Amino acid sequence: MNITVYLGTGGVGKTSVAAASALAKARAGHKCLVLTIDPARRLRTALGLRGDALEQRVELDPPASGELWAAQLDVRETLDEAVRVHGDPKLRQRILAHQIYATIADSLAGMQELMAVERIDQIARRGFEHIVVDTAPSRHALEFLDKPESFALLADSNWVKLVGRTYKFVEATGMLSLGRATIDIYRKLETILGANLVRQVLDFYSIFVAVAEGYGARARKTVAMLRDPAITEFRVVTTPGKALRDARYFSDELESRKFRAGAFYVNRVWRLDPGAAPDEGLAAEVLEWYRDVSGSHAGALRDLEAGFGARVNRIVSVPELERDVDGLAELELIANTIGS
Ligand SMILES: Nc1ncnc2c1ncn2[C@@H]1O[C@H](COP(=O)(O)OP(=O)(O)OP(=O)(O)O)[C@@H](O)[C@H]1O
Ligand SMILES: [Mg+2]
Repeated sequence: MNITVYLGTGGVGKTSVAAASALAKARAGHKCLVLTIDPARRLRTALGLRGDALEQRVELDPPASGELWAAQLDVRETLDEAVRVHGDPKLRQRILAHQIYATIADSLAGMQELMAVERIDQIARRGFEHIVVDTAPSRHALEFLDKPESFALLADSNWVKLVGRTYKFVEATGMLSLGRATIDIYRKLETILGANLVRQVLDFYSIFVAVAEGYGARARKTVAMLRDPAITEFRVVTTPGKALRDARYFSDELESRKFRAGAFYVNRVWRLDPGAAPDEGLAAEVLEWYRDVSGSHAGALRDLEAGFGARVNRIVSVPELERDVDGLAELELIANTIGS
């Protein structure tokens, strides 16, 4: 199984390039899924999808022998699935119906990045050969690498385990057998939160602790896959004008987290050959301007190659299309030039 993660600043074409490379993989006969972590619905437009389903198969004209699926990350659904798959079968319904669970799930609703590694694990278990991850613009993208690790640490923490175990102990033996200090802590908590809520929280932890501990273990395994260059490639999407700046920023950010940028995709490169130009008039001026821009794009690619070529596996130039990337026809055009 392989994972490709697309990163980049806002609007550079991450979703378009991610969807195009996934299409190329499906055309090559693989079972492939593009997961968008971005709450915006751009992936659906890029793939020309209709309907509201969080996950759908994209219909491809023959001769595609592979499969292409598109999925939008949904925190609540991912959490529910974790409970269904990893929770104790006897406790699943109690967990899902628990009031504290609803509160936790609601408070996590905006944290797409937190659930992304859990979702990747769920997809990997379903036999997809390629998972393409389309991230949100840069400000959040790297949180996708940071948050799961910190959350895994929290879920693994002795504190969570302790609460779970203490509760079981309290339940089995009664409060009175606890030490005075522990009773004091519970009393204080009860004064602040109310006895009912404290009991609910403890009750919830006692049934949820196995899912939370499992999350920690799964997140660590997924992050290890993301760190393994034989499995995962990080691709930075940029545009000619920002190529050097973005290359430096993302290489540094990835390296500081012990990940490595595998490839740079320079999107929206002008390279139509305008052919013979008339000598004068507006047409000549337009062509002159077009040549200037194309020349500066070629220069940006050369500079990127000189500055960063040795640090990545590939630098790929993605052409500017004549229209927006709003369906499979445009994706095919990109896929035909960049491959998978
Ligand atoms: N090669 C291209 N040629 C022409 N238009 C393009 C190309 N690549 C992207 N676009 C257009 O640029 C816009 C942004 O593309 P896209 O949504 O893929 O970027 P993004 O980096 O995913 O954006 P965001 O940061 O908002 O998630 C879209 O309107 C898309 O149609
Ligand atoms: Mg996008």
